[in-house]
Amino acid sequence: MKPETGMLTKDIIKKLLIHRQASTNKGDYGHSIIFAGNTGKMGAAVIAARACLRSGTGLLTVNVPKEERMILQTAIPEAMLSFRSTSEYDFSRFSAAGIGPGIGTDKKSDKMVFDLLEHFNKPLLLDADALNIVAAHRELLKKVAHSTIFTPHPKEFDRLFGKHDSETERRSAAINLANEHNIVIVLKGHQTLITARGISCLNTTGNAGLAKGGSGDALTGIITAFLAQGYEPFIAAKIGVYLHGLAADIALGKQSMESMLVTDVIDCLGAAFNHVQ
Ligand code: APR
Ligand code: MG
Repeated sequence: MKPETGMLTKDIIKKLLIHRQASTNKGDYGHSIIFAGNTGKMGAAVIAARACLRSGTGLLTVNVPKEERMILQTAIPEAMLSFRSTSEYDFSRFSAAGIGPGIGTDKKSDKMVFDLLEHFNKPLLLDADALNIVAAHRELLKKVAHSTIFTPHPKEFDRLFGKHDSETERRSAAINLANEHNIVIVLKGHQTLITARGISCLNTTGNAGLAKGGSGDALTGIITAFLAQGYEPFIAAKIGVYLHGLAADIALGKQSMESMLVTDVIDCLGAAFNHVQ
């Protein structure tokens, strides 16, 4: 019998979140790298980076085009930087990587995705244009390592896996495809579906204040931080999706769904953590 899709609740997340021990240091919480941003889309890098830092990563490096470095460096002093390259990347320092928000689909972006899929042997999340690059080079799907997280919105999902006529159809395809390709799929929407190994759950947090550009970029940063901290990818995805939505619900205390910025959502991540701990 096919397992049913469960609901992702506070009790589940409470059990999954590990408390920080008093004697720990930054080395215990991993080094995230986020490949994001391009000319005209540096906001995506800033949002993903800030969300990652607010979600517990020990260290963060953000990879951006060198000519755009001042934007990131000025907006987020806590982040370190590395730069787009045409030669081999050195991934050895990093515990987890997230790639996609605002990277565009130029040659350097293609190379980053190709290199990560080929040489990065730690947990990896693919979002936005990274998914579009995989969709444009479908042979890359064979290179995707076990438990890699894909975070498509419905259009990105359809670009990757073919057109689906309804949300119900797309959800059931996501469950099958995640199982078939040994990946975790986070199919984003009003009620985001998280699925791996034939198991699936629907998120119960979040609101239409998230229905604006940048919300997905924040989710990439949040989940990458949990991967870097050593959470198993399916669990990192569940916690990340739940807290992202919960932070948006808490943001409604001071903002409306219309006025809410993704920056407000990121600023409410602390309250979201406190709510489930
Ligand atoms: N209720 C709850 N959550 C919602 C709602 C809603 N009504 N609408 C959106 N969300 C959440 C989704 O679940 C997801 O986590 O907001 C996020 C939106 O993510 P994306 O669709 O990826 O949007 P975003 O990334 O912000 O868009 C910016 O990125 O994907 C690329 O090219 C795409 O231009 C786009 C850019
Ligand atoms: Mg997006």
